[in-house]
Amino acid sequence: MIDTTHINRERTFFAEQQTIWLFGYGSLIWKAEFPFHERHPAYIEGWARRFWQGSHDHRGTPDAPGRVATLVESPGAICQGMAYRIDAETLGPLDVREKNGYLREQTVLHFADGSHAEGLIYLATSDNAAFLGDAPLEEMARQIATAHGPSGPNRDYLLHLVDALEGLGAEDHHVFRLAQRVAKLGIE
Ligand code: SIN
Repeated sequence: MIDTTHINRERTFFAEQQTIWLFGYGSLIWKAEFPFHERHPAYIEGWARRFWQGSHDHRGTPDAPGRVATLVESPGAICQGMAYRIDAETLGPLDVREKNGYLREQTVLHFADGSHAEGLIYLATSDNAAFLGDAPLEEMARQIATAHGPSGPNRDYLLHLVDALEGLGAEDHHVFRLAQRVAKLGIE
């Protein structure tokens, strides 16, 4: 399995003594098991959320990976999520949590009041070994409906994300269509 932890430790875009804005778009929206000073709904521009990253460590196994969220470049798109203001030292455990292919990247976060800030995302690009990429909706839904890993069923990751996005009043056609398809599979 890949482990990006040591690479991310070198990716220090912000000074150690600064607090850092972290933008979560997947499990980091609804599973905030880390200390933060404040959090606010936020969005980033030019990125679309896609279930294109393999999960071999949380929502699947090396033999039967699950599918979790990453971002793909998409000019004009908006991705809504949650921004957390954290201490630099909080990144250590997050690097471990996101080690299956995600790298820290810098981006601009936009807040509802019209303000913006430089921040970080964990991004899994198409050149990481756990990347699965696009597939027919039905195939992705079946994979999510059946995969299971140490953090629980892959289905729960998707359903928690749907709940969180609905709570934020966020639109995400890709995520909502996948969830509808997974729900139908459950009753077929
Ligand atoms: C994120 O939530 O921002 C990164 C991907 C994940 O942990 O699900």
